[in-house]
Amino acid sequence: MSVLVTGGAGYIGSHTVIPLVAAGHEVVIVDSFVNSNAAVVDRLEQITGATIPLIELDLRDREGLDRVFATGDVDAVVHIAALKAVGESTSKPLEYYENNLDGTFSLLGAMARHGVTDLVFSSSATVYGEDAPVPYQEDYEPLVASSPYGQTKVMIERILTDVAHADPRWRIALLRYFNPVGAHPSGLIGEDPQGVPNNLMPFLAQVAVGRREKLTIFGDDYPTADGTCERDYLHVDDLADGHLAALDAVRARDPGCRAWNLGTGQATSVMQMLRAFERAVGHELPYEIGPRRPGDLPAFWCDPTRAEAELGWHAGRTVDDMCADTWRWQSRNPEGYPEQVTH
Ligand code: UD1
Repeated sequence: MSVLVTGGAGYIGSHTVIPLVAAGHEVVIVDSFVNSNAAVVDRLEQITGATIPLIELDLRDREGLDRVFATGDVDAVVHIAALKAVGESTSKPLEYYENNLDGTFSLLGAMARHGVTDLVFSSSATVYGEDAPVPYQEDYEPLVASSPYGQTKVMIERILTDVAHADPRWRIALLRYFNPVGAHPSGLIGEDPQGVPNNLMPFLAQVAVGRREKLTIFGDDYPTADGTCERDYLHVDDLADGHLAALDAVRARDPGCRAWNLGTGQATSVMQMLRAFERAVGHELPYEIGPRRPGDLPAFWCDPTRAEAELGWHAGRTVDDMCADTWRWQSRNPEGYPEQVTH
């Protein structure tokens, strides 16, 4: 089967390509490179031994997208492409709504015109908002995210639910990712954020490699065991496997649209993550305690039982695996991918 992966050159997309290829699918990547690097494709070809076509395209380019589908070579879509920086989305809401929503409209239109109706969508734990009880469960309502980025995920979930309701040909998986971290164990691909990392793991990795002076822990006075925030970190390779499991499941299930949490069900604190990363690196890392970051929740994690029961999927890689693999990637690629290359 041929699977189009939007955002396939990005952090999560690139890792997702690997199990898809290993399962025998032909993968085509569509990516605009706004937050990714074409060098990733050579790395993926080294890892998989497969040739992976790469199409440079913004999903909002409707004619370009039509040409991709007109080849007749797309059987299913994994839609990961999106702008995803929470803070930036607050200062540039229109850009986020425009890019994430219009990109999805354009994609759905092209899929409908070409009779492709199997879709796996990249959603986020952020859809649960601030009031959902932990562990988060898929049936919780109302979904109200607290940032424009999160709202785009809520809105797209609603749109896809309505699309599947109206037309029984559609088979759609909504995957609510918790906190993806780690890297492929080859050390060839990993997370390579532009500028100062917003997220904990890439920041820690850049401290360890000497690109940042120290980690600032955003608050140690939360109502948690050690006072620092707790999250459900999952290895990006487990997350990648989750996409394959979801694709198989939607094709085996009745038509419709269904959400699955992808997480471990375990909470790890910022301090525990720092200590685990120090174990991976082999020495202590500099840090300071800073003020809380506005908008951070004290602790959340998922109930993963639906994904385990219905997708036959389980996030089994440990926090130590996540740190060891991140460190392998970062130490072998201290500056991330080489400068942007055109493919
Ligand atoms: C963030 C996004 C979320 C997205 C996820 C991807 C926000 C509010 N949410 O989640 O929508 O899906 O990334 O993984 O940005 N921390 C520090 N120091 C740092 C960086 C982070 O102490 O330099 C702490 C944070 O306070 C938080 C934890 O580490 O408690 C995890 O932060 P982060 O990696 O940014 O993820 P989330 O905020 O959970």
